[in-house]
Parts: sequence; structure tokens; C-alpha cells
Amino acid sequence: MSTAIKQYKRVTVKSLVEMKANNEKISMLTAYDYTMAKIVDGAGIDVILVGDSASNVMAGHETTLPITLDQMIYHASSVIRGIDRSLVIVDLPFGTYQGNSKNALDSAIRIMKESGGHAVKLEGGSEISESISRILTAGIPVMGHLGLTPQSIYKFGTYTVRAKEEEEAQKLKEDAKLLQELGCFALVLEKVPAKLAQEVAESLSIPVIGIGAGGGVDGQVLVTHDMIGMTHEFSPRFLRRYLDLYSEMTKAFQQYISDVKSQDFPNEQEQY
Ligand code: KIV
Repeated sequence: MSTAIKQYKRVTVKSLVEMKANNEKISMLTAYDYTMAKIVDGAGIDVILVGDSASNVMAGHETTLPITLDQMIYHASSVIRGIDRSLVIVDLPFGTYQGNSKNALDSAIRIMKESGGHAVKLEGGSEISESISRILTAGIPVMGHLGLTPQSIYKFGTYTVRAKEEEEAQKLKEDAKLLQELGCFALVLEKVPAKLAQEVAESLSIPVIGIGAGGGVDGQVLVTHDMIGMTHEFSPRFLRRYLDLYSEMTKAFQQYISDVKSQDFPNEQEQY
């Protein structure tokens, strides 16, 4: 059955809530630089996340903890220059919003002012409710993030599926409700059982975007470098690879090296 999909000239936080109400699934991918943002936006993605996964993907850190606010602003401002239509959400990095709501507001304001991003994302539930409320008072849209929250990796100890046990599932459901009540426009659910994710999505009016959370939520997000196969060490079950760019790029680089060594490149037409 085909349903008419509303065309959005620019996607806003309101568009996402409308998409959920219209049963249109929301598409979201990460980008950290101008060139990738231009391609992803041009392809028609609804939301671009300038994720703190830049810490892993762009900088090669083992966790998302080291990335700084200045570095996130650099990535986000590059992305903003590449987009025409997508909503751009920027992660507040570790240490810039937990514990002190004044710091949280200052960090969010810097993101909005210096990068031109459209919204911020924070990891956590009740423990960061004060920070979320304070950011919202400045008119800055906030996306929540529950389930596997990579900034807390040293508390969890592993990147395995979260909220499999009743107690943690209950806390997640309460946190999701709280985030909606506080005024978050959407939330990400990462690596939780599909049944739980669907239950949360059905209980909320704001959209729930899943990563490793099954198909019963309101949209999906993946890390772009993973889904186009530029990274190849990371193969979680939820990841669908649409390209194998690691192999394709390796072949291209090897061909170039060979062409330079053999003096096949540059040829007569490739010089002045
Ligand atoms: O930083 C990121 O890329 C994220 C997604 C995995 C949701 O938070």
C-alpha cells in the first residue's frame, strides 16, 4: 500500500512530530563534514546528526568521551554549510551538560550560536532533567537519548544491549515519559530490545528514532561511515551495509599507487 508522503522544503522539529502523526518513518544519518553533509542532504535525508561518534569515526578515539565542545562546533559548522533541507542536530559532548544546568545552557548556546545547528542531543534521563529544562528555556530544541548511552560506557562496561532486565526497562520507560513531559521534541533509543522500543514509541506522541531498536519505532539512525562500509571493524547485528567503500577505496588507492609508480599517471591529457 502506498501512502502520499508530504514534501518538506526544510525539515524542522515540528515536521518530525508531524511525520510521526502521519505514520511516515523518519530517516536520520550522521555527518561530520561539509562534503558528506552535502551528499546526505542532497539524497533527501530528513535529519543529520552531528554525533559525538565523530570522536571514534573522525578522530580514532576508542570512546566518545574525549571530543570537545570546540571540536563539535567545528564539525557542526562544516555540516551546516553543506545542507539545504535537513534538520541538523548536534550532540552535546561528555562533560558539557552533566551536573550543572548553567554549564549545559552555556554549551547549548555555544553550539547554536557558533555552528548554526538547529537542535542539540543529550544522553540520559532523570539525572539530567535540570539541564534539559534549562536548555529548553532558551528556546533550544532538545532531543533525548536513552538505552545504550556511549558517554556512560565506563559505567556499563560493555556496548551490549541495554534494558533487557525488567528494572532497567521500567526506568527507561519512565525516563522516556519524563523527556516528553520536559519538552524534548524527539528521542533516540539505542540498542534495546525491539519489543520495549516499540512499546515506548507507541506510548509517546514525540518521535522515537532507533538504532539497534527494531522496526517498531518512528525512524532509524545509523552512523554513515558504518552504513557505507568505510569502517569495517565494527559489525553489530543491527548494521545494514549499503556499500563496501573500504574495499572500493582500497582498490582505488592501490590502482593510483601502481599508476604513479609505473608512470602511467599522469598521461599526455592530464598535464598542461
Ligand atoms: O553519536 C552518534 O552517532 C549517536 C548515534 C549513534 C545515535 O549518538
